[in-house]
Amino acid sequence: MIMTDKPAKYLMNTWYAAALSTDVSDQLMHRRLLDIPVVLYRKEDGTPVALQDKCPHRFAPLSLGKKKGDNVVCPYHGLAFNGEGQCVHNPHGRGHIPAKAHVVSYPLMEKYGFIWIWMGNEPADENQLPDYSQLDDGHANALAHTYMLRPCHYELITDNVMDLSHVDHLHGEIITTRGQLSPQMPRVVEDNGEISVRWEWHQTPAMMIFNDFLPRPNEEAAQFVVVTWSKPSHIQLTIGATQDHTSNEPLCYENTISQYDLHTCTPETENSSHYFFATRRNHNVEDGEFNKLKIAGMHGAFEDEDGPILDRVQEMMPNNDFLSLDPVLISSDAGPIRVRRVLKALIESEQTKQNEAVA
Ligand code: FES
Ligand SMILES: [Fe+2]
Repeated sequence: MIMTDKPAKYLMNTWYAAALSTDVSDQLMHRRLLDIPVVLYRKEDGTPVALQDKCPHRFAPLSLGKKKGDNVVCPYHGLAFNGEGQCVHNPHGRGHIPAKAHVVSYPLMEKYGFIWIWMGNEPADENQLPDYSQLDDGHANALAHTYMLRPCHYELITDNVMDLSHVDHLHGEIITTRGQLSPQMPRVVEDNGEISVRWEWHQTPAMMIFNDFLPRPNEEAAQFVVVTWSKPSHIQLTIGATQDHTSNEPLCYENTISQYDLHTCTPETENSSHYFFATRRNHNVEDGEFNKLKIAGMHGAFEDEDGPILDRVQEMMPNNDFLSLDPVLISSDAGPIRVRRVLKALIESEQTKQNEAVA
């Protein structure tokens, strides 16, 4: 496979999840992000580092080398690079360090259990990452994270989370809405660059993930789900059930038995994606065993049910410009299609700006 370092089709000046915090250690870790090879590690004080994983001498992957203190030593001829990407040691000849001997060091930010990376050429802007601090708020045993690499384009995963009408058709008993979701015309709201879709319905019994925690299990419950997309590929999902709601307040995390999830995708290549998600719940919060089962169940549902269909969809698409393939659209596509259009416009405007700067 020929490796190229020049991504053409991604939004660049934005934050993507590079890794779960728990996956980055003092060992060198290779990960391809936006078609660029990256090596991730932690310095001795724990600060995470991300460097382009390609030595500027003969292009060996630095991740195959060794970590020495806070530096990385190339496995081929031993040039050493610090966390800023600068070559700091040349064991050859008189030890002269050529001016070009450096690699790109990418700005990182560690928040909400993820390491976020900024790969664009504009200065990294911490304020561009939305506030996901709801993940940090509560008992440690009511929060879990997971990661998987999937062989499909990242927008197929975004579409899947933005259109939850697939739940009754693709998924099993545990999260069925008993046919209540598909007939609805979901409400789509665009606000300040974010796109939200909200559904509300009643079902008997409630989704299995909530039924046992309600005051009257197996009886009718009111349910809601809201998904909110932010550029480039972050989706907050809050879902809950209640049998006690009498006020006019909309159903939300605070007034139902519910959970708050963050789904985020980072392209690995055009046809493969790093898929991360985190979940925080407001019930049975101290139960660590339940927490493990919960995240394993969510991971398994994607791996066994969503993932395989997305892989087959990917195989059927001759390219990743979905709207150019003249798809049939149905009411439940309102949210995902709005997201695709907004993201496409952002990418085009970024590329126009970059081209003007070059001209
Ligand atoms: S390829 Fe890295 S030092 Fe030669
Ligand atoms: Fe799903």
